[in-house]
Amino acid sequence: MKNFISVHDVPDIDKLVQKAFAYKAYPFKDKMLGRNKRIGLLFLNPSMRTRLSTQIAASNLGMDTIVFNIDKEGWKLEFEEGAIMSGNTIEHIKDAAPIMGSYFDILCIRTFPSLVNKRDDYSELFINQFIKYAGIPVVSLESATLHPLQSFTDIITIQELFEEQRKPKIVLTWAPHIKPIPQCVGNSFAQWINAWGNADFVITHPEDYELDTQFTDGATIEYDQEKALKNADFVYVKNWSSYTDYGKVLSNDSDWMLTREHLTVTNNAKVMHCLPVRRNVELSDEILDSGNSIANLQATNRVWAAQAVLAEILNNLN
Ligand code: CP
Repeated sequence: MKNFISVHDVPDIDKLVQKAFAYKAYPFKDKMLGRNKRIGLLFLNPSMRTRLSTQIAASNLGMDTIVFNIDKEGWKLEFEEGAIMSGNTIEHIKDAAPIMGSYFDILCIRTFPSLVNKRDDYSELFINQFIKYAGIPVVSLESATLHPLQSFTDIITIQELFEEQRKPKIVLTWAPHIKPIPQCVGNSFAQWINAWGNADFVITHPEDYELDTQFTDGATIEYDQEKALKNADFVYVKNWSSYTDYGKVLSNDSDWMLTREHLTVTNNAKVMHCLPVRRNVELSDEILDSGNSIANLQATNRVWAAQAVLAEILNNLN
């Protein structure tokens, strides 16, 4: 593996899941793998889980880590080729990225979408410019359209819990939110579950909240949430803003908030959320504080997902 930007960078998902389980059992077994290697974690946007889990994963592999909150502490970067930099951007990615490439062995980047310019967001301009100019492996800590470390974690968590000899029914359900949220987690979860191919996969949302079909093709789309939830083994709750009417909040219908009543038609489903969660807006307290919620296990498994990915990249470097 060279970069980790989407599921397309993973030749064998199940093999990578087994690697993550091995690290969960023996976190320090490859403590020498990252010796004398340095990882840079660049944040253009806030984070808790992604930042801490990736830092712990790197430490478990013996790497040195530098965290750079570039949005607050760095120069404002320009990403457009040929830009006349007479506005508020101070340093071009062409100048900054090669320097980071000389300081680090692996560069990890969190860069959210604008939710204004769909063309730029869906071309993944920012992360692709880092890949183009850094000259070292790049790992997405959530980009404009995808959150691959989260989705990989989600598959690890489903595999850890589901022991029956059949495919699980997994439902991704839209939830209300008070502000426009990227489509990244929904896109990425759909992309990974479809690529994994070991689930009966249904996506449910109000009309006009369709995600990009490049990620959802292969899933069943069902506008009736109750029908979608029937016999579900796992329910993934996530808000996203409109993809078609880009970045807009078209509905805030609280009926879509997952409550215990919604779960009655499921197979006593495990409820997933990437966190942070708006309690009693996206998901009710009664679910989050119950044994049905596996959101904390997902967050814990972020370490093993990141460690498996970093180890694959380090093996490719060494
Ligand atoms: N799930 C997730 O990416 O959490 P953070 O935004 O806190 O990193």
